[in-house]
Amino acid sequence: MRGTLIICPDAESVSREAAERFVSAVAAKLAERRATFSVALAGGSTPRRMYELLAGSPFRSKVPWARVHFFWGDERMVPLDHAESNFRMTHEALLRHVPVPPANLHPISTNLPADQAALAYEQSLRAHFGRWGLPRFDLVLLGVGADGHTASLFPGSAALAEKDRLVMPHSRGVNQPARVTLTLPVINNSHRVHFLVTGKPKASALRAALERGALPVQRVQPKKGELLFLVDAAATGKLERVRIEVPAASEAQP
Ligand code: 6PG
Repeated sequence: MRGTLIICPDAESVSREAAERFVSAVAAKLAERRATFSVALAGGSTPRRMYELLAGSPFRSKVPWARVHFFWGDERMVPLDHAESNFRMTHEALLRHVPVPPANLHPISTNLPADQAALAYEQSLRAHFGRWGLPRFDLVLLGVGADGHTASLFPGSAALAEKDRLVMPHSRGVNQPARVTLTLPVINNSHRVHFLVTGKPKASALRAALERGALPVQRVQPKKGELLFLVDAAATGKLERVRIEVPAASEAQP
């Protein structure tokens, strides 16, 4: 797998590293006059601390929040104030603490059936990135599930084969909320994809992610972008023999 693995001592330093890289990426892009920065936020529990750090000193004052547009990599079809809502988590940890104009927030509509929500979100992406071609996010943040899923791209999911649609629904059975997810063509068209992976329970998933195979996480291969795994020592428990190829162009300049 092409990409860069950065091993930090613990989860806190992974969060800090991710926050620093977010700030650097924003600064690099916004050096262009009139540019805006687009990010797809990850849900789950791992990135919460990164978001909290961005909301406080010293990071908060380094970001021109009015020029940052927030999207979500995936969402559960639950009310936006539900405990499992990615919007809620990101709002509580970051968005309510920083001066982002409401017009810069592009959440996935969860008051619709998942297939309609996927179409509505696709329209929202088109409205921001342009009607034709693929959106090109400046940054996509992702996590890795124990089964090798990322965003809401699960092993065996039809969404993995999608080539044309930007967004797909995913149904997870009767007791689980349906989800909506960005598709691989969109993720792989990004300038940067940063995975955050921490904790011993993620060691097997991370190892699988970095070895050859067909798990969803392994299908994340930005064509002309940076692929970064920010991981803590606990999550690398089984990585001793993994060789990671790092082409010079894949590392971001701070
Ligand atoms: C979500 C994401 C999912 C997540 C991984 C890791 O849960 O919203 O869809 O892909 O990033 O499952 O989750 P944790 O960070 O909670 O381990």
